[in-house]
Amino acid sequence: MSGTQSDIINVVSGVAHAENRETTQKSYDDWTKNYDEDLGNVGYFVPKRAVESFVKYTKHVKVEKVLDVGAGTGFVGQYLRTDAKYEGVIDILDANIEMLYLASKKDLNFRNIIRHWVEGKLPVHDESYDVMMCVGSFAPNHVPVTSLPGIFKCVRKGGLLIFTTRVQSPRSYKQEFDELLARMELDAAIKRLDTYEVVHFENAEKKINSAIYVYQKL
Ligand SMILES: C[S@@+](CC[C@H](N)C(=O)[O-])C[C@H]1O[C@@H](n2cnc3c(N)ncnc32)[C@H](O)[C@@H]1O
Repeated sequence: MSGTQSDIINVVSGVAHAENRETTQKSYDDWTKNYDEDLGNVGYFVPKRAVESFVKYTKHVKVEKVLDVGAGTGFVGQYLRTDAKYEGVIDILDANIEMLYLASKKDLNFRNIIRHWVEGKLPVHDESYDVMMCVGSFAPNHVPVTSLPGIFKCVRKGGLLIFTTRVQSPRSYKQEFDELLARMELDAAIKRLDTYEVVHFENAEKKINSAIYVYQKL
């Protein structure tokens, strides 16, 4: 592990405040082998909370195919299998090969493991998923705000979009994020079902929050 809780928070903060996409990805390369243990120590349960929303909102939605964007080491897939007891298709997509490699070793029965740097539309067929999830990856120098409409194309009409962003995000990321979502809602492309905040690191002294969003594709 990287050390004490504050060492771990410093690593996370370094990633969150990295100057550009190359340094962000380099940080993940260096961090991958400690990622799961470090985040377990600080109580990172945002993927688990997002999967709780998956369970709540898929009660009346047929789900056979899920895409996890910015999947990292596969936490979302893990909770989909263990907590949601979801047995259908999971494809995972991430820019970082080290993170994906770790995910591939977890015996979570992923169908496709896709390495791709998201900037807009994804390298998958339009409307080919019932649910798209993206946890912890909408952030500065991570998945750009402007890619939201492109990403949403992967979900069929009536399907769900479940994703998160940090509330106290560096720069104006969350403000731009919320403005674009509001515009898409006005354009009747999506409908908001839920938004709520959870503590990002449940065991850390300093509490920061993530917002979880649940939308339906129209
Ligand atoms: C904080 S991790 C979250 C991983 C996982 N969802 C979780 O909750 O543990 C962010 C992930 O997003 C990936 N990422 C960042 N920017 C990306 C981009 N533009 N396209 C694809 N993946 C990206 C990183 O490689 C990293 O694995």
